[in-house]
Amino acid sequence: MNLFRTKTIGADVHGETGLLRTLGAGDLVLLGIGAIVGAGVFVLTGVAAATQAGPALVLSFVLASCACAFAGLCYAELAATVGGCGSAYGYAYAALGEIVAWIIGWALILEYGMAVSAVAVGWSGYFNNALTAAGIELPAAILSAPGAGNGGVVNLPAMLIIALLGLLLSFGVRNSARFNAAIVFVKLAAIAIFIVIAAGNVKPDNWSPFLPFGWQGVVNGAALIFFAYIGFDAVSTAAEETRNPQRNMPIGIIGSLAVCTVIYMLVAGLLTGIAPYFTLNTPSPVSEALLNLGFRWGAALVAAGAIAGLTSVMLVMYYGLSRVLFAMSRDGLLPERFAAVNARTHTPRIVILFIGVVAACAAGFTPIGAIAHLVNIGTLFAFVIVCVGVIVLRRSQPNLKRPFQVPWSPLVPLLGVFFCLYLMVNLPAITWIYFLIWMGFGLLVYAAYSVRHSHIGLGS
Ligand code: ALA
Repeated sequence: MNLFRTKTIGADVHGETGLLRTLGAGDLVLLGIGAIVGAGVFVLTGVAAATQAGPALVLSFVLASCACAFAGLCYAELAATVGGCGSAYGYAYAALGEIVAWIIGWALILEYGMAVSAVAVGWSGYFNNALTAAGIELPAAILSAPGAGNGGVVNLPAMLIIALLGLLLSFGVRNSARFNAAIVFVKLAAIAIFIVIAAGNVKPDNWSPFLPFGWQGVVNGAALIFFAYIGFDAVSTAAEETRNPQRNMPIGIIGSLAVCTVIYMLVAGLLTGIAPYFTLNTPSPVSEALLNLGFRWGAALVAAGAIAGLTSVMLVMYYGLSRVLFAMSRDGLLPERFAAVNARTHTPRIVILFIGVVAACAAGFTPIGAIAHLVNIGTLFAFVIVCVGVIVLRRSQPNLKRPFQVPWSPLVPLLGVFFCLYLMVNLPAITWIYFLIWMGFGLLVYAAYSVRHSHIGLGS
């Protein structure tokens, strides 16, 4: 039995997929920003500044962006060359073999599934702020997961938003570039308001000491706020719907990353400039910092932008998860009826319901820190495999048509591997333990089911 059997490149991409090539470079950049800007910048900046990096959080953002830039270039090459809606899972299947594809698919399930939960918790924090501002007080018991020490029993708003999105997705979502652009506009407007107000209220004293936790704090902060960049990889799932992908895919992936890096550095610098870093460990630090300065309207607008942004991130992550599960089921590695498409709505309702139940429970009953770390480790792992995939595929199939090529290969892919592994080893030990348990469980599922049902293994 060959566990490293590979899938022929192009089987999914060049056949009749029914998808239209309508997206241009600008659409892809907006798609990227739509999927990227969310809980990372609106929520985790506070935790990371208060407990990990202090005002040097700006450097954490630079470090995390390096890992993403190198991996992003590799994503661009494989998205243009291999394509397919399974993203990294599909690239690994073509380049590295089925068992690696399975492992990466399993990690992607962790990434997207946990991201939905983690962002839902951030959404809940901002939603509650909005209610409080409107004079509505909800009981503490239904506002947070148990264990945080604030009397929480369940995070009900987080569970409800996941249920609503599941409902929306199960009835079909037209992923129109226009709708996405509108959401991106609201998000960016919220950030612009923050930047304008904060820029006039910086107290340079707040930046000192700049490195209260030393360089290790910067690295730990980077491993945590790496979360803020996740989502540009989702752009690669649009490979089959992009005009001239060899030009537009790299612009979309690298362009959205560049815009977000600039935004994040500005927000991190200003946030730690208007409030002492140790006061920022709250569920909605960006709007609360404005509130504390007395800008009620500014805080309300930022909160509204954050709620819109978090909603779109969750929607894309939820949707992405259903695409990856769909791709894995299509290859026979997961039960095919699991991704059965409803004839009337054209959506995989069973899988959407399943994802909703699991993600809602994780959001309702676990603390966000542990969840965010798990998203990061799964994603970083996928990035490492994508970088390695570029190097392997260049050797195993040198004559493949590569519409976009990573410059200076293998140097750039190797730097991607290095930066991603560097961030991974700086994640807390408990995250590794959860990750290894998850991956071990995945290998059991593979051995018990997938290896015998694989379409390639069965020769179909
Ligand atoms: N980058 C996404 C966010 O920050 C996952 O919400």
